[in-house]
This record gives sequence, C-alpha cells and structure tokens, in this order.
Amino acid sequence: MVFQRDAISKLPAYKQGVAPGDSGAVKLSSNENPFAPLPSVVTVIAEALSTIHLYPSMSAPELTERLAARYDIDAENLAFGAGSVEVASQLIHASAGAGDEVIFAWRSFEAYPILVQVAGATPIPVPLTDGDRHDLPAMAAAITARTRLIFVCNPNNPTGATVTTAEMHDFLARVPENVLVVIDEAYVHFNRDPDSAIGLDFFKQYPNVAVLHTFSKAYGLAGLRLGYAIAPASVAANLRRVSVPFGVSDLAQRAGVASLDAEHELNLRVDILVDERTRVLAGLRAQGWTVADSHANFVWLRTGDDTDRVNAALIEQGILGRAFPGEGIRVSTGSIEANDRFLAAAASLASGSPGQ
Ligand SMILES: Cc1ncc(COP(=O)(O)O)c(C=O)c1O
Repeated sequence: MVFQRDAISKLPAYKQGVAPGDSGAVKLSSNENPFAPLPSVVTVIAEALSTIHLYPSMSAPELTERLAARYDIDAENLAFGAGSVEVASQLIHASAGAGDEVIFAWRSFEAYPILVQVAGATPIPVPLTDGDRHDLPAMAAAITARTRLIFVCNPNNPTGATVTTAEMHDFLARVPENVLVVIDEAYVHFNRDPDSAIGLDFFKQYPNVAVLHTFSKAYGLAGLRLGYAIAPASVAANLRRVSVPFGVSDLAQRAGVASLDAEHELNLRVDILVDERTRVLAGLRAQGWTVADSHANFVWLRTGDDTDRVNAALIEQGILGRAFPGEGIRVSTGSIEANDRFLAAAASLASGSPGQ
C-alpha cells in the first residue's frame, strides 16, 4: 500500500444526483436548469472549439471586465474556478489548514464538509433552526479562536430558506473582522424574497465578506464549469494562487460572456422557473403537504423518518429527487412536464408522512 492521507480514505465521496439512464424517469436531483443552452451561447462555444489546442487565459480578462463593470467592483475582487464548488474549495484552502475550523449550517450544501476535510481543516456544522433556516446566533456562538471561515448559503441548499438583511447584519456584528464570511449565492437569481440579504451589498459594506456566484444554475452552464468569487482583493489574490492552473476553459469563459450578453433572455427563463416553483409549491400544499417557501430552483419535502418510503414511492413513479434519509427530499424545479409528473406522483402518495 502506498502512503495516502488517512483523512482522505475515510471521506465520503461527493454524490452526484441519480441519473435516469433510459428508464424514462426525470432527473430532479441536481438543481440543473431544464432549458437547453441558448443558441447564441452554443454558437460562441462552437466557434471556440477551433482553438482548444491552446491553453485558456488564466486571468479570464473579458469575463473579468464584464463582471467588474456589472457589479461596480475592481477586477482584483474577482477570482474564477471550475464551478463555484472549486472556488469554495479555493476559499477553504486559502483560509484554513490543519487545526483550523470552518463553520457552516447543516444541513446545507453537501460539498462543504468534504472540502473542509480535504483541506485538513475541521468542519463545524451548526444545525438549522426547526424551521430549516440558518441559525445565525448559534453560528456566531460557535466561533472560536480557531475559526477561519464561515459559509452562509443563501438561499440554502437544500431547504430553500433565506437569511434576511437584518439577520446578516446582526451576525456580521458578531464575527471578528479577521474571519471571512462567504455568502454562497448559487441560487441568487431565483431568490424573490424582498427581505433577503444580498451578498454584494454586504461585500461592499464589510471588509470580511466574500460572495460566491455560479453560471451553473440560472445561466444553465453546469456542464461547462464556471463560477467565481467576489472577494476582498487580498483574498481574491490568494484564490488565484490556490487555483488549479488553467482550470477554467476558454469555452467556459466565452460561454460566460455570451450568457452575460444574453442575460435578458436567460432572466425570462429564470422567471418561468420561479413561476414553476410557485406552482409546484401551491400544488403540493393543495394536496395536503406542509412545505416551506423556497427561494431557489427546488422545493424541500420535510419527510423526516418517512424519507426512505416517500423517496422509494417517488422513484417508482419516475421522479428522481435528492433524498437525505431521516431529513427530507429536495426536488429540483424542472420542465413543466417534469413538474407535472412530480405533482402527480406526490398526489398519489399515501397520506400519513410527516410532510403531509
Ligand atoms: C449552494 C451551492 N453552492 C455551490 C454549488 C456549486 O455549483 P457549481 O460548482 O456548479 O458552480 C452548488 C451546486 O449545487 C450549490 O448548491
């Protein structure tokens, strides 16, 4: 046996959402955008194919310029990665090593505890409130002299709950200025909560706030891997040091720019998905399910101990959600047809589960 880090062999691997294969089931397990890529974006990618024998630019100049202008920030505040999950990993590696602590809500994005342990640091998961929201006072109370980084996922994956502006201010007042707070906004485009904290506003007001954005969800580029951090310049510089060289392909960079060019068109799609989410929530409630509002492109069935049974019944009817045994099932907002199928499956489930 060759030497391997013990901590790594013991880690659970990140689990990808179940794929339907040729079963005819619908995959609603990865919060993907159900719309096919925009023709204008596909054209740009096709054109870029002729230069894939060359390395991409590591500084993503065009994308940087566009995003800096869009958010009224400096180019130095931006750092890119192969999806925002890679940027989350960069943030952890740049901030925390052995013996250091990284706080996040739990349940939240499954990658956080894995990435923290890969970096050799210690994950500090803080349970959500009974209402499946971030318990920010408890997270503030969990801060120690070893805390180096805190993730706040807003809206939260998988519960869809938001953190309000007032809650975020109260929280940041309790976080030491030398501890970085990362507001993970993978689902920000779907967030219609008027009280929700907006990461960029906090980045502009606090010296220890960074924001994570992705092109995977609202922009539908999950397969091309493009995400970025808006961070204090010194942090962003370290993210570039930590990043895997040439991790963001030229195809991804160009598709990102083309998506910004087509933002109006993409936003219309987001509006449709938000309407669909609202329709699914209303449909579930009409069937007798108790479901909280979601501000992302998924809904959260709080099925508790009944999760395995409900999930098996959904799978039987061709609905592949993401189940967390003992907690609940996250079901992505898909196409109208997929959502109809999900609603039909949910309606047919026997009553008596905690979610109903
Ligand atoms: C909260 C959150 N952050 C980050 C990501 C990473 O997305 P990507 O790496 O595709 O940008 C996800 C993906 O599901 C997510 O749910």
